[in-house]
Amino acid sequence: MPNHTDTYTQLTRHLHELHLLGSTISLLSWDQQTYRPIAAAAHRADQIAYFSKLHHELFTSPKVLGLIDELASGVAKDDSDQAVNVRELKRSSDRQRKLPTDLVEELSRNESLSQDAWIQAKKTSDFKTFSPWLEKLLSLKKRVADCYGYADSRYDALLDEYEPGASSREVAKVFESLREPLVKLVRTVTESGKRPPTAKLTGNWPRAAQEEFARRAATAVGFDFSAGRMDVSTHPFCTDLGSGDVRITTRFDDGFFAGSFYSVLHEVGHALYEQGLPVAKFPGLPRSQAISLGIHESQSRMWENLVGRSQAFWTHFFPIARELFGSRLDGVTPQELLFAVNDVRPSLIRTEADEITYNLHVLLRFEIEKDLIEDKLQVSDLPELWQTRMQKYLGIDVPDHARGCMQDIHWSAGLVGYFPTYTLGNLYSAQFFESANAELGDLNAMFAKGQFMPLLDWLRKNIHAPGKTYTATQLVQRVTGKPLSPEPLLRHLNAKVSQFYGA
Ligand code: CO
Repeated sequence: MPNHTDTYTQLTRHLHELHLLGSTISLLSWDQQTYRPIAAAAHRADQIAYFSKLHHELFTSPKVLGLIDELASGVAKDDSDQAVNVRELKRSSDRQRKLPTDLVEELSRNESLSQDAWIQAKKTSDFKTFSPWLEKLLSLKKRVADCYGYADSRYDALLDEYEPGASSREVAKVFESLREPLVKLVRTVTESGKRPPTAKLTGNWPRAAQEEFARRAATAVGFDFSAGRMDVSTHPFCTDLGSGDVRITTRFDDGFFAGSFYSVLHEVGHALYEQGLPVAKFPGLPRSQAISLGIHESQSRMWENLVGRSQAFWTHFFPIARELFGSRLDGVTPQELLFAVNDVRPSLIRTEADEITYNLHVLLRFEIEKDLIEDKLQVSDLPELWQTRMQKYLGIDVPDHARGCMQDIHWSAGLVGYFPTYTLGNLYSAQFFESANAELGDLNAMFAKGQFMPLLDWLRKNIHAPGKTYTATQLVQRVTGKPLSPEPLLRHLNAKVSQFYGA
């Protein structure tokens, strides 16, 4: 009869094996999105499918599930490393076991088919062709939610996948108190008539200088290039390939450097979180994994927006930009550049939205998907509702479905419950930043001198090092002494609007 310690050792060995398989899959898909030759598409798909099958079989094997169950019945309910690992493994394996195999297969088949249908239908803005796919997918997601079970709202069961432990009632409460103030801020911006001098900043940004500038900034804020890489891909992303290997990608646009630059700072924020998790010590174990998508996003938004779009950041980086971009910045003042990267304006596309309107795009999607899952809204009502709310929140008309309710891949890919994590990320980041600032002194004074390590060290200690020890709700309370609140984000956005658009 093996004792408790032996059982745990056996389990960690299997999890290490799963980690080797999982990180190999990640490496294959990183290559897929960066360097893989076009002709290798089929072979690469086979490789990824094969390793994914091995990974799934091992994690759901009676051996591994048995070890998890055995440990879960006897483990202490504290915050020790072992208790955290067993608790979280039990949580995710229970969720997996609640879904019947035929439902998993049907869902995965429909997700691929409906993504294809979405790609085709979006080209001609054809909502009629797409809507039966969306209906089918939503009905499957409702079945998934019912299998998982929930106390309050069916939507909670889906949200839990991305933001474990979050309740949609709490999220809705915070989002609702965000809505009116944000709509007012957008109106202030629109009515001010002020605009950054975009014309003189458009065009002729050499790619080599953009890349060098991005690397300098990434290094300055703490990205470790000896334990990571930066490459080019169609859509920027960050991927963790195991201990000592966290990679980011970006894309370049000659029109203006900011798109690429801020995507680098965003992905670097994700990468700093990954580089700060204790992966070498707990390979493949929850103790070394990110808490949730919202917490992950809080790290990317912090470096992108709270640090990278601040006046202090540009006090330090404007001279470096002048040095690297040379005559391109002739006749451009630091203040003009700062205004240009803080341009706020209502627009149709979420992914291109600024720091303020972005949240209204997310609120709209959260309200709609929650009502769809709770059967308070029909798919056929979607286009009209989109138009009404875009008018109400941002004051703009939706010209077609492709730039309206069909713009995002999420729903066709089965990602329901994912959208709120973006705004949760913004909320967490502002609340964490206020606490860091209170504890460390004037962060902006440090940024202006190019000192970013005090903030990174604080994030490492308080947010990165604990891995999944706490839920997002618990972490916010522990780190900031308060539950999640809309106030820090609103204070930050208000200050921004009065700085650039004030009287
Ligand atoms: Co992100």
